[in-house]
Amino acid sequence: MARPARVFTVAIDGPAAAGKGTVARALAARFGLGHLDTGLLYRAVAAKGGDPVAAARDLVAADLERDDLRTLAAGQAASRVAVIPQVRAALVAFQRRFARREGGAVLDGRDIGTVICPEAEVKLYVTASPEVRAHRRWLELGGDEAEVLAEVLARDARDIGRAAAPLAAAADAVVLDTSVMTIDEAVAEAERIVGAALV
Ligand code: C5P
Repeated sequence: MARPARVFTVAIDGPAAAGKGTVARALAARFGLGHLDTGLLYRAVAAKGGDPVAAARDLVAADLERDDLRTLAAGQAASRVAVIPQVRAALVAFQRRFARREGGAVLDGRDIGTVICPEAEVKLYVTASPEVRAHRRWLELGGDEAEVLAEVLARDARDIGRAAAPLAAAADAVVLDTSVMTIDEAVAEAERIVGAALV
């Protein structure tokens, strides 16, 4: 299996619960790449409480280990601190270093192909309809499905509408719509694209 000898970045962007994380983890395992779930950085900043700019500047690895970062509330809180330009700025250098580490990396988030690593060798935009995404999140987390859909729509609106690094597909990203393909098909297509970029 081809494995990058030096820098090689796969940038994966898309809205909440589209399957970015699943695709990213599969690519990392298949091609031996480092993986950074950048949403976790914003979730951890919000969970620390206090001044979000200070929290972002002082973020340490242990902050990402909290077990309360995956909840719907943590996702909403993350999208509120993610609109603050100084919070985003404090997290850029770490993400860029990770993206260009030797041996290659896959990062998933909202602005990886547009802002963090526009030079990424592969850019994917993983998306699906809000209903499909809400259904998947509801299967994972339970609760009231209508509430999960409302949460997904509110988070989409905040992520797409913000001035600083809004969620958008890079012009050169390949779009994988997981409402018309299964996650397994999306993973297979992503593996094919990355494999082709590595030869
Ligand atoms: O991907 P995840 O759902 O964990 O992201 C949580 C929130 O963090 C997103 O809704 C978004 O507001 C923010 N985020 C971001 N930029 C990224 C990753 C996440 O603004 N690269």
